[in-house]
Amino acid sequence: MKAKIVYASMTGNDEDMADMLEEDLQDYGFDVDSSDVSFTDATDYEDADLCIFITYTYGEGKMTDELVDFYEQLKELDLSGKYFAVMGSGDRTYGEHFCENVFDYQKAFIACGAKEITAPVTIENAPDEDDIDAIDNAAKEMNEKLG
Ligand SMILES: Cc1cc2nc3c(=O)[nH]c(=O)nc-3n(C[C@H](O)[C@H](O)[C@H](O)COP(=O)(O)O)c2cc1C
Repeated sequence: MKAKIVYASMTGNDEDMADMLEEDLQDYGFDVDSSDVSFTDATDYEDADLCIFITYTYGEGKMTDELVDFYEQLKELDLSGKYFAVMGSGDRTYGEHFCENVFDYQKAFIACGAKEITAPVTIENAPDEDDIDAIDNAAKEMNEKLG
């Protein structure tokens, strides 16, 4: 099974999440490719069985230019028959905008026809023990459904 992880990260929290998930999925035997959103074309998802997007949210939910560019590419794709998952790190002090871009991308994948494999994992800032468990559990669920 091929998994493609794309992450957006400025201060490293979402990159850490991507690294953890990549390691988990590799341990389950997935063929995983992981890359930064700035250097990735959304069409890369077309070669994967499982499409994963892990993102920050900055600026009260307003997408950064990198996120907008990728979002526009993603919207054009037909991902029916594929599974997807979204995750991300935010900060609850932003209230209703907490991890807003994670949910923007969740809607985009659904619009592309992909099926959600696990509920979004949203964490606060750097991953703590509970967050690591949540990522491990998501990987386990992905493996149970696809592995
Ligand atoms: C200027 C600024 C704006 C932010 N806006 C939001 C926001 O709207 N919603 C949110 O959940 N987190 C917000 N955050 C928190 C970041 O998303 C959070 O620190 C995240 O862990 C950063 O991820 P990264 O380390 O992968 O870049 C903001 C942080 C900063 C510095």
